[in-house]
Amino acid sequence: MGIVERLHGKDLLCTQDWSIEEIETVLALAGRMKQDRFAPAFTSLLKHRTFSMLFYSPSLRTRQSFECAATELGGHAQYLEPRMMRLKSGGSAGETIEDAAQVMSRYACGLGIRILEDQIGAYGEGAALIREYARWASVPVISMADDRFHPCQGLADIMGLREHLGDLRGKKLLITWASGALARSWCSVQETLLLASRMGMHITLAYPEGYDLDPEVIAWAEDNCLASAGSLDIIHDPYSGYAGAHVVYSRNWMSPQAYAGGQFQKQREIERSLALPEWICDAERMARTENALFIHPMPVDRGYEVTDEVASGQRSIIYDIAENRLHVQKAVMALTMAELPARPEAFQG
Ligand code: CP
Repeated sequence: MGIVERLHGKDLLCTQDWSIEEIETVLALAGRMKQDRFAPAFTSLLKHRTFSMLFYSPSLRTRQSFECAATELGGHAQYLEPRMMRLKSGGSAGETIEDAAQVMSRYACGLGIRILEDQIGAYGEGAALIREYARWASVPVISMADDRFHPCQGLADIMGLREHLGDLRGKKLLITWASGALARSWCSVQETLLLASRMGMHITLAYPEGYDLDPEVIAWAEDNCLASAGSLDIIHDPYSGYAGAHVVYSRNWMSPQAYAGGQFQKQREIERSLALPEWICDAERMARTENALFIHPMPVDRGYEVTDEVASGQRSIIYDIAENRLHVQKAVMALTMAELPARPEAFQG
């Protein structure tokens, strides 16, 4: 079976579940879709089909980019709010995921689901809920960001970095924790860490003591580095990681204590974070890099995670990456959901 046939019907819950060959196939198609956005080969791949999107949590980029993606592929994206669907949750009675996922699979060509940190009572519950949908759905399920992973963001990041730097092997990426007033989940940084470590990058992960990420994800990233000749170093100071970096990714994330007491302690996380204002990406630190690109999945917490000067500076590629969400999602939807061989020319490089 060829790669295109293999991807048909596949879920995208975390890029670590996909082979390098599958990821490269998505990135190659996304590149062609960006170059010739409305080419006839692409504009009817999902003709008359509906992609159903369940948003347990809010969004700007994800909702709009998926809606535009479905439109540009000739189909439609349907916005659904789970709170309006009488679903069973926590202790309350309602429809099971088993039933809901199987019914929605009779209507839609794919399901997208977003559930972030503030909708759950323990780390991992959001990702587990999406896996439960995927278990019962007979159409592809895409994580549109959960508490652990954000696969489309990671793909958009890598696409943007390649556009500006070419081959990423040997390039140095600083992923640094930052102060912030929003208390972010780990999904975006973890996804980019996983993908960058598969691309052979030399990664420095900088964060204050007490802000460890998921140990399972760190172990996967270390394994990825062994396979790709990349590297991963963890440091706990807000300055030294900038030296020699080709890319700086500055982002707030919650601490592992965020779910103490069985609920998300948002205010306490924000207060802890704001007590560490020295963790900010600024022009002085960027001057120590190899003219590094600045990346961030957005929304940017300006003045806390990064200064305006850097976020809006010449080396910031945040809008390129936000645009790439559209192209990678079109590629994922086409490869996993379009009928084969609807437009075989669409999938030829
Ligand atoms: N990066 C991202 O997922 O943005 P939204 O939360 O606005 O969708």
